[in-house]
Amino acid sequence: MIPRIYIPADSGALALGAEKVAKAIEKELKERGVEAKIVRNGSRGAYFLEPMVEVATAEGRVAYGPVKPSDVKSLFDCGFLKGGHHKRWLGAPDKIPFLAKQTRLTFARCGVIDPLSLDSYKSHGGLNGLQNAVAMAPADIVSQVTESGLRGRGGAGFPTGIKWKTVLDTTADRKYIVCNADEGDSATFADRMIMEGDPFVLIEGMAIAGIATGATKGFVYIRSEYPHAVATMTKAVEIARKAGVLGANVLGSPNAFDMEIRVGAGAYVCGEETSLLNSLEGKRGVVRAKPPLPAIQGLFGKPTVINNVISLASVPIIMDKGAAYYKDFGMGRSRGTIPIQIAGNVKHGGLFETAFGLTLGEIVDEIGGGTASGRPVKAVQVGGPLGAYFPRALFDTPFDYEAFAAKDGLIGHAGITVFDDTADMMKQARFAMEFCAIESCGKCTPCRIGSTRGMEVLDKVAAGIEAEKNLALVSDLCNTMKFGSLCALGGFTPYPVMSSITHFPEDFKPAPTRVAAE
Ligand SMILES: Cc1cc2nc3c(=O)[nH]c(=O)nc-3n(C[C@H](O)[C@H](O)[C@H](O)COP(=O)(O)O)c2cc1C
Ligand code: SF4
Repeated sequence: MIPRIYIPADSGALALGAEKVAKAIEKELKERGVEAKIVRNGSRGAYFLEPMVEVATAEGRVAYGPVKPSDVKSLFDCGFLKGGHHKRWLGAPDKIPFLAKQTRLTFARCGVIDPLSLDSYKSHGGLNGLQNAVAMAPADIVSQVTESGLRGRGGAGFPTGIKWKTVLDTTADRKYIVCNADEGDSATFADRMIMEGDPFVLIEGMAIAGIATGATKGFVYIRSEYPHAVATMTKAVEIARKAGVLGANVLGSPNAFDMEIRVGAGAYVCGEETSLLNSLEGKRGVVRAKPPLPAIQGLFGKPTVINNVISLASVPIIMDKGAAYYKDFGMGRSRGTIPIQIAGNVKHGGLFETAFGLTLGEIVDEIGGGTASGRPVKAVQVGGPLGAYFPRALFDTPFDYEAFAAKDGLIGHAGITVFDDTADMMKQARFAMEFCAIESCGKCTPCRIGSTRGMEVLDKVAAGIEAEKNLALVSDLCNTMKFGSLCALGGFTPYPVMSSITHFPEDFKPAPTRVAAE
């Protein structure tokens, strides 16, 4: 049998040099006259080990990483095509602790299969969920998704089944499924990873959503900064259409569903669902007032399911293994698994899919391995740029929507950014206001004006001008933004600001005192 070599071609691995490694391996194969098949897979998400090259041996896959082009000759000398030992040898990928500790439901195939091989997808359980769905009544599909406890992974954690039911129950001549792949949060890459590593799972999830709600057309709105995801998704849609997974008769059934890929113009606020719909319609990405809900009047005024990539990509396994199977994972009202994205100043950065319920401390210290700088962890921002900064004192908080909300935080899209003790939380608070000022769509005053005023007042605090009075003003302003903003951009910016002030008060002392304390 011709040996198979797996070299990731996902953006993360490419950024770490996977293309150069692939070229070096190709060259070496040619020079040595060795025949091998190179498969460009997605990443398994252990980015601290990328580029991670795997070879298929008689005993299973063997991984090597992080591989540099300069390692390639010696890898061949060590007989890596047969799993031979080398300084980059990692053994069976499934046994690498970072991967072995995970519960992979949504990402089960990511990094394992050839992303654009529908056969490979099918041989790893792909399309089972859709096959079941085409034989079911729409209301039963919706019930199954509701019973699974799946909540939107885009940030708000709204029950997916309830959203789908609203669309199913709304009568219209046309309905849409819109996949939100804008993924603007800092430290997040789960959407990108799955679109590049297992695109058919998203297509399958969208087709199930279409059949469940009576929508015949879908759009994936992908941020322009994700050209590889756009390319992979575009090819996957073509392949799915040719194979009859999409089209007038999905998997030979009477159900029609087709989809298109659309590229965003590049604005954080275009990830907000109504702004995204405006952008998809060719308008400026400005937030729409709700009601009407998109589920009733969404894209082009028609009932629209708008879901995050991971929400939709989690549906096939629910429809394959059943609601009870999925619901069995997790804690409280947070059911199933969540792909936690660990980034920032951290030793073991990457994607870690696990059942809800691990504590923040376990994620940062045990899985993430602490900071990359080796200094103590000072703060962790959970949930993107609008998420709160948690100090070590809150490391016992379990990863659960309600537990985080109870501590004035949020899970968001499950991105976490780690900071060591050199972080200046006053600067981080100011950055949150600055981010809001730059990204604000401008529709409402608390966000548009408040964010700029927030920067100015924090600058005064930093300069030691009436610090106490100005900090009280920041708190008052945050209150106005929180309760007076039209959407969560203005409404949640107070989270990073107020958590910094509450948990790290020493960083808000006027400059001279701070210098003296240091
Ligand atoms: C400023 C802002 C940015 C957002 N960005 C994203 C995003 O990039 N991706 C996403 O899925 N949801 C994002 N959301 C949440 C969406 O508005 C919406 O809740 C989500 O797409 C619904 O899908 P879900 O129920 O599957 O989570 C954002 C919300 C706000 C307020
Ligand atoms: S909060 Fe900000 S982004 Fe949201 S609608 Fe108001 S101005 Fe626009």
